[in-house]
Amino acid sequence: MRLRSLWIGCLYAWFTIAAGVPAHGQKNGAVKMGEYLTIAGGCVSCHTDFRNKGQPFAGGAAIPTPFGKFYAPNITPSKENGIGDWSDADFIRAMRNGKNPNGAHYFPAFPYTSYTQITEPDLRAMRAYLFSLKPVERASTPHDISFPFSWRLLQVGWKMLFFREGEFEPDPNRSAEVNRGAYLANALAHCGECHTPRNKLGGLDYDSWMAGTPNGPGNETIPNLTPDVDTGLSWTVREIVEYLKTGATPDFDFAGSMMAEVIEHNTGKLTDADLKAIAMYLKSLPPVRNAF
Ligand code: HEC
Ligand code: HEC
Repeated sequence: MRLRSLWIGCLYAWFTIAAGVPAHGQKNGAVKMGEYLTIAGGCVSCHTDFRNKGQPFAGGAAIPTPFGKFYAPNITPSKENGIGDWSDADFIRAMRNGKNPNGAHYFPAFPYTSYTQITEPDLRAMRAYLFSLKPVERASTPHDISFPFSWRLLQVGWKMLFFREGEFEPDPNRSAEVNRGAYLANALAHCGECHTPRNKLGGLDYDSWMAGTPNGPGNETIPNLTPDVDTGLSWTVREIVEYLKTGATPDFDFAGSMMAEVIEHNTGKLTDADLKAIAMYLKSLPPVRNAF
């Protein structure tokens, strides 16, 4: 009996080594790093249909926007239904340039507008992690948007107007910690996609970065995170860290709605050092007065 399980163990190990996949429970360095970055990027939130107990990354629930409903596709390594035949270059083009392998333009419901800032080694690690997962055979749901918004070619004009493409560059006038926080908040956790006001065509208002909006995603009120005395965030660094980790606010309340999901799937799983870096970055933002 014992010998038999030993044999099965050896066979399993051999198969996994032969297939180039790390044995279950063991992850190589790039995959581990990619997992952390993918958590920091909040990818699972949109790409998983949690309400219907969908498998992670196998395609998400409807994302309502003023232009219609978008569905984040299956990004497991299924060749048929996911991104299983994508190269590193395909993945990098999607995240950095907002283009699919055929050159068609993505809709900004996919926040490539933030992910464009992720560094190339980090993108490679993220693809390595996604490719270490089990492929899930679930077809992606087609978007439900009306013409002309459904027309991908329109995105060329949108990108020319509103897309600031390119990798994150650390600001030499800021500390390493604030730069790390800016990278985590802007390139990965895409805080600004919700916390920054948008114009009528859905472009981010970079002059009011993180200044909140009365009509954010899902028509919700999104608070101002800049340190403006009257309308902004007055919490201490420690209070911000506590909130991003547990959802508890300094006035004994709890994060609600979409922010509760961000904390559950994303910031609640980051290291304390990274959360402190994000808090320090928020404190360093230019205060923007935005009453609504
Ligand atoms: C706010 C929701 C949202 C988040 C968060 C999100 N995505 Fe997506 N993603 C989408 C939507 C919507 C699309 C489809 C865009 C389109 O069809 O134009 C998409 C498309 C993609 C595609 C293209 C797949 C294909 O088949 O063409 C990839 C790859 C991808 N996302 C990876 C990621 C990764 C990696 C992360 C985390 C770093 C992430 N996404 C986070 C909404 C999201
Ligand atoms: C999907 C949209 C979304 C994203 C992404 C998002 N937030 Fe939020 N955030 C919200 C909403 C909605 C609220 C209001 C929550 C409530 O009403 O309890 C909120 C509230 C907050 C608050 C509490 C502010 C206050 O005055 O009560 C902080 C701090 C915060 N977010 C920080 C962040 C940071 C940092 C990030 C990125 C790591 C982030 N958020 C990403 C939607 C988002």
